[in-house]
Amino acid sequence: MDVIEAIYTTRAMRRLSPDPIPDEVLPKLFDAAIRGPNSGNAQLFRFITVTDPEMKQTVQGIYRECLDELNATRYAGAQEKVTSGDPDDPDVQQTIKIDKSAQWLADNLHVAPMLIFVFGKEGGETTTFPCLWNLCLAARSFGLGTAITTLLKVQRQRVEDLMGMPRDSVWTMHGMVPIGFPTGRWGVPRRQPAEEAVFSETWGQAVDWSVPEPLWTPDY
Ligand SMILES: Cc1cc2nc3c(=O)[nH]c(=O)nc-3n(C[C@H](O)[C@H](O)[C@H](O)COP(=O)(O)O)c2cc1C
Repeated sequence: MDVIEAIYTTRAMRRLSPDPIPDEVLPKLFDAAIRGPNSGNAQLFRFITVTDPEMKQTVQGIYRECLDELNATRYAGAQEKVTSGDPDDPDVQQTIKIDKSAQWLADNLHVAPMLIFVFGKEGGETTTFPCLWNLCLAARSFGLGTAITTLLKVQRQRVEDLMGMPRDSVWTMHGMVPIGFPTGRWGVPRRQPAEEAVFSETWGQAVDWSVPEPLWTPDY
């Protein structure tokens, strides 16, 4: 697959079918992941692949608890928007869409054929996430959907215990990615136009170009 197509169509794919990941794909995903840029090439990343149904179900229960906790605290504003916002407001519509998708994942996490946990050093996400994104792009090229999640960090100790990590480990969980064949269609994620996020030369100075529509669109 063309790299631009992979970049433009790799988005948070939360609705996945239970079909297994083909055996021959797995080494290719992780070989792509570890090629990622990482601080000093110290390669401070570790992964655990989980396919055991009981383990996945347990993780799903913890994930659900994490989301419920955040919905009642950090995401309370978004929840208010979902329940009481103007349904004709595009911003509210977008929040409702993400909320629905996030809730679906919390209820169905265990349906994914595999959960990939990523570990690094405390604060080392600048190393693990470029590698994780390599994995997501490689997965896309094999038709596999992924969604980077960090919600489980709300109950990190519980998850690390479940994964069998020693309590005195220098490693810590950075996130978890459900992976599988998507049930929906691939598409280009919605974003603000690039020129709204880029300045020229100094802070606040507008660039002299604009991109009102994505510069690449799929023909599917
Ligand atoms: C660091 C990070 C943490 C994230 N954590 C979660 C999460 O815990 N749960 C979830 O459903 N999505 C999570 N996401 C996915 C984002 O919600 C998603 O990238 C965003 O909504 C854009 O989605 P799109 O690319 O499909 O448009 C996370 C993404 C990133 C980069």
